[in-house]
Amino acid sequence: MSTGSGTGGEGATLDVERVICALADLADPGSRAFTIGRGDWPLRGLVVRRGHEVHAYLNRCPHAGHPLNLRPHEFLTPDRTLVVCNSHGAVFEIATGYCVAGPCAGASLQRIPVEVHHGYVLVAPDAPLEALAD
Ligand code: FES
Repeated sequence: MSTGSGTGGEGATLDVERVICALADLADPGSRAFTIGRGDWPLRGLVVRRGHEVHAYLNRCPHAGHPLNLRPHEFLTPDRTLVVCNSHGAVFEIATGYCVAGPCAGASLQRIPVEVHHGYVLVAPDAPLEALAD
């Protein structure tokens, strides 16, 4: 399933190249920025935890392509129910990335498939990282 991940998961060897963060590094609800890949154009994303779900998206707003956050790791509205773009105020559902209000209402953040293994949040092995980074 590519629509987020539960917080379980056992039995796989941990691929450190795909690690985003420890699950314990995410408040509930909470968010973090991350970078995956090397070189001049690594993939920059955000990960959000809410309850037993973890969701990740490209840190690129569909309105004007800006990063969503102004301060490190702060992607949520003050009530922590939505993801917010600090450039012009678009707000997105945590579970879907769908923009429910703002200048890009009806558009969506680009999902990055993730999974949780052994207490770590990882990019899913089938995630199209090169396509996402374009
Ligand atoms: S760039 Fe995000 S709302 Fe304009």
